[in-house]
Amino acid sequence: MLFSLRMNGGTLRIVSVVGARPQFVKLFPLDRAVRESGHQHLIAHTGQHYDASMSDVFFQGLRIPQPDINLNVGSGSHGQQTARILEALELYLISEAPDFVVVYGDTNSTLAGALAARKLHIPVAHVEAGLRSHNRRMPEEVNRIVADHASDVLLAPTRGAVDNLTREGLAERTFLVGDIMVDACQAVLSDESQTSVSADASHPYVLATLHRAENTDDPVRLRRLITALSGLDIPVRLLAHPRLVAKAEEQDLDLQVGNILVQAPLPYLQTMAEIRGAKALVTDSGGLQKEAFLLETPCVTLRTETEWPETLINSWNVLCPEGTDLNHLVQRAAPDRLGTKPFGDGQTARRIVDLLGTWTSVGEQPSDVSTRRTGSADT
Ligand code: UD1
Repeated sequence: MLFSLRMNGGTLRIVSVVGARPQFVKLFPLDRAVRESGHQHLIAHTGQHYDASMSDVFFQGLRIPQPDINLNVGSGSHGQQTARILEALELYLISEAPDFVVVYGDTNSTLAGALAARKLHIPVAHVEAGLRSHNRRMPEEVNRIVADHASDVLLAPTRGAVDNLTREGLAERTFLVGDIMVDACQAVLSDESQTSVSADASHPYVLATLHRAENTDDPVRLRRLITALSGLDIPVRLLAHPRLVAKAEEQDLDLQVGNILVQAPLPYLQTMAEIRGAKALVTDSGGLQKEAFLLETPCVTLRTETEWPETLINSWNVLCPEGTDLNHLVQRAAPDRLGTKPFGDGQTARRIVDLLGTWTSVGEQPSDVSTRRTGSADT
């Protein structure tokens, strides 16, 4: 299958499709890099996340331009949400006729964005391609697999992701570019004043988040995990995602018990600062596992598997699906620093923009074969 990019005087017209909180973080460095390169960048917000604390604060805090369109799809079942995005996005993409659509991560917005563009024969680039939890009950796993197979340019964050895509016969479309969340994290860390929490060793705390459907939607499981958190010897700051609050209410479960202090979700900068200052992070979020790793805070993941196995090196991250022995795990000392950077060098956004600017599809002669599969993202 051949594509030819409709380059307008060398300028690409790129539409980014985002909708959920972690996608705004990934959008932040890419938006900057696209604008610096002189290409045109349009932002299509699906409206999957709509509370100010889940959306607006990210655009404001990271100074991302306001979306060019908000599809306002809101919450719903997977079928409803995905279908609403598909229908509305198709119309938008037809009217804007971009050269490229960029989708991020593994949400319903990612899946719908990749499908809508692909069916319109618009080339699709998938940021964070190739991650696999190998747990097909996770909605995110289905979204990732379908988005990868529908996309034309697979932007892999790690060598493990490249290997996964190669096993699925997608090596030809795969590029190792590094992890764009390193770019975001580094941009924030460069302003120390914004992330320095006075780490007061005499008042240690654990930071916790819990929002995955497999943890929140099973009443027995949710109660078990909340009980484990509430019994920790040190205070637990639980940043409560609206899904967790809604499910706890439905299940008549009190979240503010024992040592748990329930707090609203935080903007990106404050979240980074809170992770940095914590004795440990306890989470089921993929992004936060990695941010803890980058910020050198020990992490405990309340899941049976992780799509970021690199975080398990030296036990920086430990899987603890049932919440057993949590007290011991959060009290463990920070492991030795790593000499390697499995998530790359923080130049991912620039690498992606360069790649999109020179991209020719599978079936044509690639303009720069050397960047394929190997790249230079990991050190
Ligand atoms: C979604 C993604 C998940 C990602 C997470 C980040 C899917 C399948 N899941 O999960 O991969 O890790 O975003 O946060 O796409 N709600 C609000 N206000 C909001 C948004 C949601 O109250 O602004 C509540 C609603 O009750 C909604 C529930 O949260 O039904 C779940 O929201 P949804 O977007 O379906 O999935 P997340 O759990 O946020």
